[in-house]
Parts: sequence; C-alpha cells; structure tokens
Amino acid sequence: MSKPLTLTVNGRDHDLDVSGTTPLLDVLRNSLGLKGSRYGCGLEQCGACMVLIDGAAEYSCSREVGTLAGYSITTVEGLGTMEALHPLQQAFLDEQAGQCGYCLSGILIAAKAFLDRNPDPTRAEVAAALDRNLCRCGSHPRILRAVLRAAAVMRRQVA
Ligand code: FES
Ligand code: FES
Repeated sequence: MSKPLTLTVNGRDHDLDVSGTTPLLDVLRNSLGLKGSRYGCGLEQCGACMVLIDGAAEYSCSREVGTLAGYSITTVEGLGTMEALHPLQQAFLDEQAGQCGYCLSGILIAAKAFLDRNPDPTRAEVAAALDRNLCRCGSHPRILRAVLRAAAVMRRQVA
C-alpha cells in the first residue's frame, strides 16, 4: 500500500506515489529519470549509488524513500550543468579519471561531501574518504589526482 510522499531532489519537490519501502535509487532512476546514480551491488558495498542527503554521502540503494520526507537530496545531475560543470566534474575530465565511468557518479558525490568538510586534504585523506567507493577499472590514482585538483580550484574560488 503506497501513500503519496514528497521528495526534494536537486532543489525541486516531486510528489510521488510509490511504496515507502522503495529504495531511493529506484525512485531516482525509474520515477524521476535521473540515471546518473548507478546500481552496483544493492548491498552498501560499492558506492555506485551514492547521493547527498542533507550534504552527507549516503547509499541510495538501501535507503527507503519513505524515510526521506523533508530531506534535501542531491544527485550527480545536481552538482553542475553542461554549461557550468562543478569543479570536481571538470577535474575528472581534465585528469581523464574514468575508464568505464560506472563508479564515477558515486565517487563525485563522495568527494563533494568530503571536500565540503575538508577543503585542503592530503592524498591519504582523500583516499580514506573514498574508502566506500569501488572502482573496478583501477582508476584510483587518477581519481585521487582529480579530487586534489578540484580541491585546489575550489580553494581559489573562495579565496
Ligand atoms: S549499489 Fe549501493 S552500495 Fe552498491
Ligand atoms: S571507471 Fe570503471 S568502475 Fe571506475
């Protein structure tokens, strides 16, 4: 039995008629057409599904949508636009940080949450912050370079 609920995603309110036990990831992809968040494992083990929930990077594969009324959710589509990429997105392009790209939306989200907390991290701190995100292509060295590059750009923007 479903009851209507309102979900705030990327700054917009969406009225939904889905079961409250539906995983957030399914709602994002299937109801809202936001395909950037990926299904990898469904078991909180890969990070491909990560989104920001009130600024914290969370797994969307396991989060029931009925628990999210009143929260602000940001997906990778909400980070930047094609015309104005987020510095993280630009840095990932500049460093050619992806191969297949499957992991990248979750990694961008995890990196965004981390840099908001720690704008001037060491490489080891970035690696620790991305500990929950798997990249099966083994792009970790370039991903770490990209996050550090973005951090430098973001620091200049606020200086
Ligand atoms: S799909 Fe959510 S952690 Fe893997
Ligand atoms: S770029 Fe392929 S899984 Fe990370």
